[in-house]
Amino acid sequence: MKRNLVYFQSLKKQSQPIVCLTAYDAAFAHWAAQAEVDVLLVGDSLGMVVQGHQNTLSVSVDDMVYHTKMVQRGNQHQAWCIADLPFMSDATLEQVLQTSGRLIKEGGADMVKLEGGTRVLAFVKALSQMGVPVCGHLGLLPQSVLKKGYRVQGRDESEAQRLLDEALALQEAGVDMLVLECVPSTLAERISQALKIPVIGIGAGANTDGQVLVVYDILGLTPGHTPSFSHNFLQGSSSIKEAMASYAQAVRQRRFPAAIHEMKA
Ligand code: KIV
Repeated sequence: MKRNLVYFQSLKKQSQPIVCLTAYDAAFAHWAAQAEVDVLLVGDSLGMVVQGHQNTLSVSVDDMVYHTKMVQRGNQHQAWCIADLPFMSDATLEQVLQTSGRLIKEGGADMVKLEGGTRVLAFVKALSQMGVPVCGHLGLLPQSVLKKGYRVQGRDESEAQRLLDEALALQEAGVDMLVLECVPSTLAERISQALKIPVIGIGAGANTDGQVLVVYDILGLTPGHTPSFSHNFLQGSSSIKEAMASYAQAVRQRRFPAAIHEMKA
């Protein structure tokens, strides 16, 4: 079944979790769509897991367009496809419009994702007014790693309140979905309940409207460190498709993330 924003809104109303997975090429996208994953995120995490860089900062707009095209060929437009605006491709409104236009027109993405809160509000508003579906991204922001590191965000009340305010402001500006990365589960629940749009968590506990993980992590393919909130679904599965289906089922049945993966509140 082809997924769309109306469908995701209905899942949120029915408290049915949305299953999201990153994808970077046609083969993985094909099997993820076959495994009934709802959303494929062409994340700039490809800079780390595919290109082997230390962080996501060197990913270019050309890289994102190239990978999004491949993903949509494999996906055949079944799962909803989100593409990231990479680091510094969203510094000005002109750049945001140009990059988003390329991701949608050349890459075939259904939605674009930008990191940040207050900084991107005007950009979100402009995209939304032009009819471009937008996904926000708050909490741990991988594109701000040089300044903030990879740390859980929103632990103290003033930071938590700032994130809630920014989430509401993004919704007001026009985002149709929000990714919340590495925040305490209690805060993720508070934000999910306060927002009308679906909130997709990663390392943010069980009480969001959906979950996203990096596909290489769930298949045990990431060399070295795998985030503690992730899980290798290939263990106990006999194929990549089965592992992806097992992840999808665990999210839908709220068995993932299990208690051991919950961030400490
Ligand atoms: O780039 C990415 O894969 C992401 C996820 C970690 C949410 O933004």
